[in-house]
Amino acid sequence: NVPTTYPDPVHIGVIGGTGLDHLPHFTKAAVVDLDTPWGKPSSPITILEHPSPTTGKPIPIAFIARHGLHHQYLPSDIPVRANIAALRKLGVRSIIAFSAAGSLAEEVKPRDFVVPDQAIDRTKGIRPHTFFEDGFVLHVPFADPFDNRIGDVVRKCGHSLEGDGVVLHDNGTLIVMEGPQFSTRAESNLYRSWGGTIINMSTLPEAKLAAEAEIAYQVIIMSTDYDCWHDSGDVTVEMVMGHMRANAVNARRFIAAVLDELSKEEHSELVQATHLAGQRKFGISTSPA
Ligand code: ADE
Repeated sequence: NVPTTYPDPVHIGVIGGTGLDHLPHFTKAAVVDLDTPWGKPSSPITILEHPSPTTGKPIPIAFIARHGLHHQYLPSDIPVRANIAALRKLGVRSIIAFSAAGSLAEEVKPRDFVVPDQAIDRTKGIRPHTFFEDGFVLHVPFADPFDNRIGDVVRKCGHSLEGDGVVLHDNGTLIVMEGPQFSTRAESNLYRSWGGTIINMSTLPEAKLAAEAEIAYQVIIMSTDYDCWHDSGDVTVEMVMGHMRANAVNARRFIAAVLDELSKEEHSELVQATHLAGQRKFGISTSPA
């Protein structure tokens, strides 16, 4: 009998990916089952409470499992607009997303982490990718797809775990492909020639929709394989899941360190994305009907 509502706005959201479908070691304060004009999100949203290291006050965090509680959504079928709209409805203004990815660069080994600073969209036009349609027109800036201020906090936390087996690359270009099939060798080599560092199937349009919703968004990537350009053997689901499981403890420690840091009083304006306020002309509170 966990409560189904939460009384206060929740500023921090976490979108968990493959291998990170829940966050143990956090106190569950509520499980909220929301509906949005774009349908239901991938999973009910769990509100976790974490004591602020500076004030001791419980800081709420909204957690959503991107692929659903039973991993039932293919990357192309994730109700991304509903996920972002539901988090925004709860008050979320900053998102830490987590995702597995293949490596397109020799130096990014399986199990390494990357905090990317750029992205190339290879899903464009295939998935619903905007809140602004049917007469609502808005073009949001997207030159920097990830929030550098949140990104810098994430990088600092990742480096603080380095002695404990976490290897972190401070930036990189993320290619987001449609899937569900992995790339051909020719595609994999093409993405490398474009400067791609890692490749996944889920960060876009998620980051684009977060930008439209004035939410500061940063993804943490965990490399789970060398994509097929590499001569170490072609990527398989077993390979991805094997590395993911083997490194799950590090992934959870990384996320926990980030949430600990973001719960500090000194980051309260950052997690409310006051630096984004007014950047977009419209909110997304209007129904598309
Ligand atoms: N997710 C994990 N590994 C991947 C790869 N090699 N390509 C696309 N998405 C991935």
